[in-house]
Amino acid sequence: MCRIFAACLKDGKVSPILKTGLKRLEYGGYDSAGMATIDNGNLEIKKGVGKIDEVDRIVNFESLNGNIGIAHNRWATHGYPSITNAHPLTDCTGEIAVVHNGVIENFLELKEELIKNGHEIKSRTDTEVVAHLVEEEVKKGNDLVKACLKAIKRVEGSYALAIIYSKEPDKIVLIRKESPLYLGIGKDGNFASSDPVAFVDKTNLMIPLEDYELAVITPYYYKIYSIKDEKEILRNPVEIDIKPQMIEKGGYPHYMLKEIFEQPISLYYAINVQRLYLNAIAEPMSRSKVNFLIGAGTSYHSCLAGSYMYSKISGLATIPVVASEFIQQYGNTLDPDTSLLLVSQSGETADVLKVASYARMKASTVMSITNVVSSTITRLSRLYLVQQAGPEIGVAATKTYTSQLLIHLLLALEIGKKREKINENEYNEYYTKIRSIPKAAEFVLKSTDQKAKQAAEMLKDYTHIFYLGRGINTATAFEGRLKMLEIAYIPSSAFSAGESKHGPIALIEKNTPVIFIAPKDESRKVILGNIMEIKSRGGKIITLGTNDDRELKEVSDFYIDMPEADELITPILYILPLQLIAYYTAVLKGLDPDKPRNLAKSVTVE
Ligand code: F6R
Repeated sequence: MCRIFAACLKDGKVSPILKTGLKRLEYGGYDSAGMATIDNGNLEIKKGVGKIDEVDRIVNFESLNGNIGIAHNRWATHGYPSITNAHPLTDCTGEIAVVHNGVIENFLELKEELIKNGHEIKSRTDTEVVAHLVEEEVKKGNDLVKACLKAIKRVEGSYALAIIYSKEPDKIVLIRKESPLYLGIGKDGNFASSDPVAFVDKTNLMIPLEDYELAVITPYYYKIYSIKDEKEILRNPVEIDIKPQMIEKGGYPHYMLKEIFEQPISLYYAINVQRLYLNAIAEPMSRSKVNFLIGAGTSYHSCLAGSYMYSKISGLATIPVVASEFIQQYGNTLDPDTSLLLVSQSGETADVLKVASYARMKASTVMSITNVVSSTITRLSRLYLVQQAGPEIGVAATKTYTSQLLIHLLLALEIGKKREKINENEYNEYYTKIRSIPKAAEFVLKSTDQKAKQAAEMLKDYTHIFYLGRGINTATAFEGRLKMLEIAYIPSSAFSAGESKHGPIALIEKNTPVIFIAPKDESRKVILGNIMEIKSRGGKIITLGTNDDRELKEVSDFYIDMPEADELITPILYILPLQLIAYYTAVLKGLDPDKPRNLAKSVTVE
């Protein structure tokens, strides 16, 4: 969950470039930050605890000289956030520096061995052992590349590593296993990062590293080696599909707000995913005996909503499961007749990747939906679809959620056609409705923005909020709740409204806020009953319903008008005001919605 960035320039000072890159990577971790450069053969390090700007104010990263360096944003896994535990971490001589994203599983064992051999381990991190293992190898006379190739064979776990050595001041070694790592091949120098957004303004060419690969970059060339047999691998760069302007805030105060308002565009791109790929995924899903939909957090919620779409449009039963539970709950049932559709915005969520590898072992069909073209999930999947939502920098998923929902809907249509559950006319009618989604989303964002601000003002001081929905909008309730609790830190619960009287209703007191998602669909009548049950116990009723629903308006204390829409499209539209409410609540509480505490954009550890 940390992020790393490395750069070596033909000419000029590297520290300002590293700092800009770190800021772009801040979504991945922000409890400490650090940078190391080599200046005139000396290793110089600056690091500290806090967000990059806070650390920078104290250490002034740009005071580091030198044309080569590595940098790191930390999201602590081993060792609390402290200066000592912040990366870069060094060996005993202070000549080797390492930054790392991942988890080194056998670090305790390695640490014990290194201490016995006379090394002094200063931090409580799992990473520092790598610097000392490389030190051992250079002491034996190996050059940096050879030393790293030998050292890494001792390491178990996941890693994206960047390593520099002051005695070989023109080289950076990069090593990858199970954590994302990309080389950036530029005219003025070469780069490497956990995410190409760090160097997208410096080059439009990149090379994704694969597991068990080690690369070395200098200002003038790059080389890639297989860790297993130490042979060189030849690989050409590919073009990066991100434009620099896509990663700026575009005048919005936060990425999250920008990304919420980008949804009409990201939905438009989702509609235009290639039919060829939709068809290719629809094919095994239509044929398989069992279909699972798997994701974590928000991506799981899209699977939950998706399961209603597959059932209603294509008569296909799909089982939505959270990735971290999948292997224990269903692992034993997998066989070649099973299909898994994995959904992961980043394509790097460790729990999801683990399911992919496991299912491959069982010869099941692994397919995925992701927003990151060259992410690990694409390499583990037999087929994958790219959402094309553009980079999502805010930690809380917004535009990628609605684009996932739309892709489920498109897939459901293809499957419906294949299984002859819908005819050509119905298929075309659905497509007409789907094409109107970006405009409808734009309308909803504009028309509910003010109301969302008022709702946030009303909700900000509550200590608990309920979200209730029925049918497909159970997923909307779950997702609205997740947004509120993760960025505004208000404990919130979500249930299918039918469940409310099976327990949750015990918590309703005078003025307990309950948000109902109540479009005009087949559950509209029953949800009214659920609203009345809560109202009669004093609950404060906040409803999202259609603008002509007088009955609902009358029983609600606060009402957000929504346009009429097809039932299966409502989750895409109804989540929009809930995202805005969570955003404005966080801002009113003085919180930074782009960087919720303890969270990282992609969770690359189990
Ligand atoms: C919540 C959020 C997370 C992610 C989850 C999975 O706003 O962003 O719950 O949805 O960590 O991430 P991906 O989709 O990258 O696998």
